[in-house]
Amino acid sequence: SPDGPDFGRCSRKSTVAGGGTRSSQWWPCELNLAVLRQNSDKTNPFGGSFDYGAAFSKVNVAQLKKDITALQTTSQDWWPADFGNYGPFFIRLAWHNAGTYRSVDGRGGAGMGQQRFAPLNSWPDNANLDKARRLLWPIKQKYGSALSWADLFVFAGNTAMENMGFPTYGFGFGREDTYQSDEGIYWGAEQDMFPTDGNNVVRYNGSTDFTARASELESPLGAVSMGLIYVDPRGPNGTPDTKASALDIRETFGRMGMDDEETVALIAGGHAFGKTHGAESGDDVGPEPNAAPLEQQGLGWKNTFGTGNADDTYTSGLEVIWSRTPTKWANEFLFSLLNNNFTLVQSPGGAPQWEALDANASYPDPFIKGKFRKPTLLTSDLALRDDPIYNNISKTFLNDFDYFTEKFGLAWYKLLHRDMGPISRYLGPDLPKAAPLIWQDPLPSASGYSTLAASDISAIKQQILAAPGLNISNLVTTAWGSASTFRISDKRGGANGARIALQPQVSFAANNPTRLQTVLKALKGIQSKYASSGKTVSLADLIVLGGNAAIESAAKAAGVTLTVPFTAGRVDALQNQTDVSTFAFLEPQADGFRNYGKGTARSLTEEFLVDKAALLTLSPPELTVLVGGLRALNANFDGSSTGILTSRPGQLTNDWFVNLLGSYSTWAVVNGTNEERFQSVDPKSGKVQWTASRADLIFGSHPELRAITEVYAGSDAASKFTTDFVAAWAKVMDLDRYDVKGHLGAF
Ligand code: HEM
Repeated sequence: SPDGPDFGRCSRKSTVAGGGTRSSQWWPCELNLAVLRQNSDKTNPFGGSFDYGAAFSKVNVAQLKKDITALQTTSQDWWPADFGNYGPFFIRLAWHNAGTYRSVDGRGGAGMGQQRFAPLNSWPDNANLDKARRLLWPIKQKYGSALSWADLFVFAGNTAMENMGFPTYGFGFGREDTYQSDEGIYWGAEQDMFPTDGNNVVRYNGSTDFTARASELESPLGAVSMGLIYVDPRGPNGTPDTKASALDIRETFGRMGMDDEETVALIAGGHAFGKTHGAESGDDVGPEPNAAPLEQQGLGWKNTFGTGNADDTYTSGLEVIWSRTPTKWANEFLFSLLNNNFTLVQSPGGAPQWEALDANASYPDPFIKGKFRKPTLLTSDLALRDDPIYNNISKTFLNDFDYFTEKFGLAWYKLLHRDMGPISRYLGPDLPKAAPLIWQDPLPSASGYSTLAASDISAIKQQILAAPGLNISNLVTTAWGSASTFRISDKRGGANGARIALQPQVSFAANNPTRLQTVLKALKGIQSKYASSGKTVSLADLIVLGGNAAIESAAKAAGVTLTVPFTAGRVDALQNQTDVSTFAFLEPQADGFRNYGKGTARSLTEEFLVDKAALLTLSPPELTVLVGGLRALNANFDGSSTGILTSRPGQLTNDWFVNLLGSYSTWAVVNGTNEERFQSVDPKSGKVQWTASRADLIFGSHPELRAITEVYAGSDAASKFTTDFVAAWAKVMDLDRYDVKGHLGAF
């Protein structure tokens, strides 16, 4: 490598077990396929077919609540509980697990128990939550595989809240643990974990003006800084500017999918409980868990100041108590916020915070009975007073405690469940009785549709293939456009619901709206014709059947008879069941499977391709066979010939693999395309033979993808290619079928 390897922070060079200078250090820009291999059966001690739903059904939830309740108020000497109650600590644990969620790519969130792994286990903002997790270990151990860490983290917070008098809206279990860090999450480009003092500009495109920068925050990030879940409690970059803090809060909470009212409800509701910890400057605190010595056994932030815990605890470096009743649900936080005069002061360690200097000392010390403190707040708390919109909402909440309670209940429920996907995945006795909420992407009941017999299915496929305006290319792209919106990160999208026929998806450029309308019109025609025979078939099923029929016909044209597996039972969502603004996030920037879009200044086209494949849970071979197969089927979004490396488009052949590897010496960049388009010139005739995109040529260039491409280009590969393509296609079509028993992740 021209620049030499990057050893990062580790100067020790192991000579065993994968030590030494690795390829990723020599060639740090090489396309990384690790995300396509994560969470494989090999990483999971239960293997791939673990049925968490079945395991969880053995949990006695009432007993679990009793166990958490007992733990909550049994202070442990090794980490004494403030006010004799771990409730607020568990709420922070739940919030920091869930609060990493961001709507743009659906990643983060509480759904996979990711706080057990780096970087989250060691983020500055998660300081001392290693203790909260360790406190819960006896409960996790007791319930074993029947209760995931992911569920326990958030359920502990939820139960704590109920125990402190807050009527929660409901709770759904069903978060299955993963066993490694999610490598697919882009946490930012900073080299420092928690850049302070004005250096925090990387994700703001260099902007240092925090009164104007909020909307500059790089997509898809959901926090103002590496190492934080959301915003700096001291104000932007540590500057105690309450109004500027509000701008950061609005942007980051907005990216979690929360509006202004939900945001105020969450902060004011959360800070009704507990306190912050900043007994000193932090100079006595040791390394975070991931850098801590072996003997600390996964715990970090060892504090040698005083006792190192209780009143000597250092967590955020801020020392604030929000309420007279920090272990009881009450409107104390908002009362204090709107009725006291706050002055900027310093915490014992020197961090900026606010104190009501002229108020009575009536807020209890967490450990010394009879000792009281004056009301205190964070800069980010005062944002709820000093931003005019937040101020109005805060006043409304203060004047109507029941309304505040209701809104906080709903926002807390959304926070904890936002990344769980369809409500068929929610388990346990505490599910709300009310109808699903709009952010849960509700679907109508399947009972309104006929059960399709095998004869119905083949009759429909024949009708589709015979319908005017429909062809292999547009049927395949429509089915792909419908199903491939799925993302495993928050389990949204997918073919069920036929939301491709609704806004905003019907207008996604990747779906080629004009061509899509032709297909939808024709399929709706078949739907009504079918209805006249007394049977109701969903448009969602018809879209998938259309793709399947096209593939079967393309295989036949190539001399292969096959049937694409089909799982009937999809339903059609209504427009008013579709959250247009957050579905907009499902629009791809680039979709190399359809040769749509291109890279950005930060990410290359092929990186978007791998990212999409990761969200579709595809392995490297599945990614490869799908791209090659879709090209054979002439399935570019715009019908163009880019990457259609076959002289017989529309036939399910392995031509793309053969021709890609066969014309290796002749590819050149097409001028003016910013290295997005390439052409191969026939050396004999001098004529352009093929054109291709980065999403094509990466398969000949990247060593691992090339190795797989070679398999499918082999002279013996035709049948393996069709079998693998059909399996990968059917997998994508069914990714969201959590309503089907036996589907991975369905309960
Ligand atoms: C504690 C900041 C939103 C619940 C804290 C601490 C900070 C903080 C600095 C103290 C950590 C420590 O030193 O121990 C913020 C900021 C927020 C925010 C900047 C957003 C602008 C929330 C939300 C919730 C919440 C949305 C829950 C709905 C809590 C609780 C504690 C806490 C319960 C007390 C933990 C304990 O007593 O140990 N927060 N927070 N916070 N936060 Fe927040």
